[in-house]
Amino acid sequence: MSWSSEEKKKRQHRAPIAEAMRKYAEDGALAFHTPGHKQGIGAHPLLRELVTAQGLREEVSLMEELDDLHGPEGCIREAQELAAELYGADAAYFMVNGTTGAIHVMFMAALRPGDVVLLPRNAHRSMTGGVVLAGAQPVFLPPEMDEDMGIAMGLSPETVEQAVREHPEAKALAVVSPTYYGVASHLAAIADILHSHGMLLLVDEAHGAHLRFSDALPPQAMDAGADMAAQSTHKLLGSMTQSSMLLVRKGRVDMERVRAASSLLQTTSPNQLLLASLDIARLQMAEKGEELVGRAVLLAEELRAFVNGIRGLHSFGRERMGTPGAAGLDVTKVTVSFRGLGLSGAEAERILRHVYKVQCELADAYQVLFILSYADTRRELEYLKAALGDMADRYRKEKEFALECDFPKIPVQRISPREAFFSSSHGVGFDSSIGRISAEQVMFYPPGIPVLCPGEEITEACVSYVRRMQALGLKLVGPRDLKLHEIQVMK
Ligand SMILES: Cc1ncc(COP(=O)(O)O)c(C=O)c1O
Repeated sequence: MSWSSEEKKKRQHRAPIAEAMRKYAEDGALAFHTPGHKQGIGAHPLLRELVTAQGLREEVSLMEELDDLHGPEGCIREAQELAAELYGADAAYFMVNGTTGAIHVMFMAALRPGDVVLLPRNAHRSMTGGVVLAGAQPVFLPPEMDEDMGIAMGLSPETVEQAVREHPEAKALAVVSPTYYGVASHLAAIADILHSHGMLLLVDEAHGAHLRFSDALPPQAMDAGADMAAQSTHKLLGSMTQSSMLLVRKGRVDMERVRAASSLLQTTSPNQLLLASLDIARLQMAEKGEELVGRAVLLAEELRAFVNGIRGLHSFGRERMGTPGAAGLDVTKVTVSFRGLGLSGAEAERILRHVYKVQCELADAYQVLFILSYADTRRELEYLKAALGDMADRYRKEKEFALECDFPKIPVQRISPREAFFSSSHGVGFDSSIGRISAEQVMFYPPGIPVLCPGEEITEACVSYVRRMQALGLKLVGPRDLKLHEIQVMK
């Protein structure tokens, strides 16, 4: 069915899933069905405090008016169509296992066992998971690095061009754009290169669900030529944690495989509150997206200017963009370096949390990241500015903080991640594991960039990098032994 633009606008002001839930609850049918709490009647008071009585009354699924995520024909279908329309995609799939789930679906839909997929090394671990599930063969590409800040930017079109020449058999390239730090890649140029070689562009857009609502932000992946984009609606917009969307462009993608993969990987009992929250987050953006995201942009720019006016603090901005790995910046991500104060990012995070009661999104060796979202107002901005100003006065050290923390070179892949995942392994001392094949993924989270992936040969550089990051107090994720006294290696 095609709608006029006036009708489309009107449709956007509805929330079909939330409306159907309310209707079912109001119908008052006696519940001889799941969930066990029976619309809140049996809920423990603690649960009732967490979720309102109304929320529990509506927390049911699979009734005829509530539709089925696995074959939507009613309110879920309508809500997904509205989301696709608002995001300018041909289809939107609601995901109840976060963007991790959406990325797994992209990989399972686009790749078959043995297919080569090109990936940036700064891929989130969900991509490694996608590779294991699909049985694909990854070829990791080096992202551009900003050596000064010690952070990975995007893949350059030149790197993609060369990889495509060297691996003409590849089926797809998956990129993360924007990065955690808000750096967007040259997606349109990358899409052109891939499409001219019959390859797909899959985008991990976990940090980009808000981009479409401000012209001051880089274009979202769907508008830049991506075939699929996985967005964490819950990260930067107003849906509940764990709820995400997979956006798809028709043409090169096998839509039936997307449907089948989404159904294979998702629960048959999706939480209706999560689905409704996606529906409502989309409604909120349809109603006020430009105003709210526009406000976040202005507040973030004010914060950045304030930070750059304090001796010892620095926040990079658009001046660092326009390089091969950085097309544009999502300015609502405000990365603040404390090097000039003599503090590591981890130290700054601890002081902010325990002295000023400010929690940042992540801390790395040099900097911390503050996310300003559509929910922030001048009140939060002024509090944060006051905290940073005071911190600069009270915690300044004599010497600038400096660290040798070059990210190690990508290790050699000796066996595929899937083979490594399913093979037998045993633990050996990490410090004496050089030359062995890792059975585990090892990374610091955030920002979730693997130092080692399953199937890769452990190098001295990997061991020394891990030890230096641990000494800074950064947290390891991935290995069985989270202190990494021992690492699991192939037998
Ligand atoms: C770049 C990136 N991709 C994917 C994910 C996974 O998203 P989710 O937590 O919604 O599963 C994250 C989560 O932090 C991320 O930072």
